Amino acid sequence: MVKIQTYCQEAHIWDLLKIVQINRGSGYKCVKELEDTLNRSVVFVATYEGEIAGFVAFRMCPLEEAVLVEGAVKHFEKRLTFAVGGHLVGSINLLVVDQGFQKKGIGRKLMEKVLEELKGKVSAVFLQAWNNPNNPAVEPLMHSQGFKTWKVYEGFYRKHKVGIAAQCPACPGVCQCSMTIYYRWLND
Ligand SMILES: CC(C)(COP(=O)(O)OP(=O)(O)OC[C@H]1O[C@@H](n2cnc3c(N)ncnc32)[C@H](O)[C@@H]1OP(=O)(O)O)[C@@H](O)C(=O)NCCC(=O)NCCS
Repeated sequence: MVKIQTYCQEAHIWDLLKIVQINRGSGYKCVKELEDTLNRSVVFVATYEGEIAGFVAFRMCPLEEAVLVEGAVKHFEKRLTFAVGGHLVGSINLLVVDQGFQKKGIGRKLMEKVLEELKGKVSAVFLQAWNNPNNPAVEPLMHSQGFKTWKVYEGFYRKHKVGIAAQCPACPGVCQCSMTIYYRWLND
């Protein structure tokens, strides 16, 4: 029922924009903005009985682009120096499943595909996750995929003026949500 396919801009971009705007409210106002992220990423699209249900966008990049907090970079870079791929890590930029399709194992399948693709190419994968109070699925999903929680950063978007700071669908004014860094070593 769930199929994972490679992204095709012409066929998918409008559906993906709709999904990201409804479910994440992350400041992607138009196709151009979403394309900028997707063009820098490997993208997999999930369909459920033929309908587009969600997607994941990820890439390989230096640690300091995957993790935007200095203390975390300092912590992880020591171990990465001697690891496969050096300072290149996997970074999950966007992971979204449309509300009507959630809790059907689609997020899990997308994450499995990401890990399969990155295995042997990088030694660690990171997700900086928005802790949407209305969406408790991120933590169980990441832990079930072998990720650990590094730290929770309170008021991250407000303090750093990034991502959902001004358009958070969960906060009436400026976003007060926290961010969690999840990480997984791939060569353990
Ligand atoms: C996070 C998200 C991608 C999960 O997608 P999903 O398809 O619903 O997830 P799955 O059905 O694969 O469930 C994954 C795990 O989370 C658990 N889970 C799902 N919904 C849950 C809920 N409401 N409460 C607790 N656990 C939940 C499932 O039991 C499952 O665990 P398992 O693999 O051990 O069985 C989806 O909720 C989403 O798009 N949220 C909005 C955007 C977002 O927050 N993205 C996260 C990155 S910033």
